[in-house]
Amino acid sequence: MQKNTLISLRNVTVEYDGDQVLKNLSLDINDKEFVTLLGPSGCGKTTTLKIIGGFVNPKEGDVFFDGKRINGIPPYQRHVNTVFQRYALFPHLNVYENIEFGLKISKIPEDKRRPLVKEMLALVNLKGFELRKIDQLSGGQQQRVAIARALVNHPRVLLLDEPLGALDLKLRKEMQIELKRIQQETNITFLYVTHDQEEALTMSDRVVVMKDGNILQIGTPTDIYNEPVNAFVADFIGESNIVDGVMHADYDVTFAGKRLPCADVGFAKDEAVDVVIRPEDWKVSEPDQGQFAGVVESIVFKGVHFENIVDAGGVKWMLHTTQQYDPGTEIGLSILPFDIHIMHKMSEEEYDVQEGGEE
Ligand SMILES: Nc1ncnc2c1ncn2[C@@H]1O[C@H](COP(=O)(O)OP(=O)(O)O)[C@@H](O)[C@H]1O
Ligand SMILES: [Mg+2]
Repeated sequence: MQKNTLISLRNVTVEYDGDQVLKNLSLDINDKEFVTLLGPSGCGKTTTLKIIGGFVNPKEGDVFFDGKRINGIPPYQRHVNTVFQRYALFPHLNVYENIEFGLKISKIPEDKRRPLVKEMLALVNLKGFELRKIDQLSGGQQQRVAIARALVNHPRVLLLDEPLGALDLKLRKEMQIELKRIQQETNITFLYVTHDQEEALTMSDRVVVMKDGNILQIGTPTDIYNEPVNAFVADFIGESNIVDGVMHADYDVTFAGKRLPCADVGFAKDEAVDVVIRPEDWKVSEPDQGQFAGVVESIVFKGVHFENIVDAGGVKWMLHTTQQYDPGTEIGLSILPFDIHIMHKMSEEEYDVQEGGEE
C-alpha cells in the first residue's frame, strides 16, 4: 500500500447465487486520483463500485478506506457519493433544490447551505439555472445537476457508474472534458466506470481493465495502450491485428509465414505467442518493397482515416491510412520491430493481476 492510498480492496470475492462475480480482487486507489474501471458488460465493474459504496458486502476479503477497515459500515457513513447513468433527480424540485437536498438532510442550516449550492452551480456551469425544473433541462444539464448534487457535501470519493451512457456522442465528449476539469478543480478522488475504451483513455490517471471478475491490467492510459499485457487487453483497448506467432529467441519472431526482427525478449525458446499489430503502425509501400505483399480488399472512411482490410496471402490485416486505396490495389506492408507486440498466450484460468507501469 502506498502512502497516499485512499481506498484499498484486498482479495475481495463476491458471489451471486453461487456464481463468483468478483474473484479475489485487489486494487489500490490513491487520494485525488482519477481511476477508471474498464471492461465489457457483466465483468463486475458496478459490483466493484457497490463494494466501495457499501451497497454490497464481500463474501471474502477486506475493504480499507484511509487505512481503516470499513467492511460492514453502511453507505451513509462512508465519505463516498455515487452518480449513476440514470441520475434520478427529483422532478418536483428545481435545480437549486436538487443540489441543496443532501445538505438539508444533513441538517445544515440555510445560511451555510446557500454558499455551498452557489459554489456547485458555478463548478458545473449552471449559474442562472437555479429555478429551472428538471424537465426543462437537456440531458447534459441534468447530468451536471446530478454531479453537483453528489459533490455538494464534499465527499472524499465520487463513484461514477457509466454516467454519460445516456448522452449522445458529442455531448459525451464535452462532458468528458468537463468531468476531468471538475475532478481537477475539486481534488476529489473519482472512480469512474465505463465500457468505452476511448472514454477511459481520455480522462483517467490510471485505467483498470477487467474481465470476468478479474483485473487483467492496471496502468496509465499510455501503458495500457502501448504495453497491453495480453491479446484481450490489446483488442479491447484499440482495434488490433492479433495473429499466432512463434518466438524463436529474443528479438526473433515468426508470424503469418514471415520471420522478422522484433523488440521483445524473455520468452521461452519457440514459445507460441500472440502477435499484436496496431492498424496505424503499418508502413505502406510498393508491393515488392514490403515485408508482406497484399491486395486491398475493402476500404471504409472513418472520419479522420481510412480503414482498409488487406489480404496478404490469405492473412487479413487491418490497416489505417490517410491515403485512399481503391479495392484491388496491390500494396506492400511493413512493420518496425518495436511496433510488433509479442504477448504470452493466456488461458482463461491464468488471468492474474498484472501491474503495468509506474508502480
Ligand atoms: N443483484 C444481482 N444478483 C445476481 N447477479 C447479479 C446481481 N448484480 C450483478 N449480477 C451479475 O454479476 C455480474 C457482474 O455484474 P456487474 O458488476 O453489474 O457488471 P458490469 O457493471 O461490469 O456490467 C453479471 O454477470 C451480473 O449479471
Ligand atoms: Mg455496470
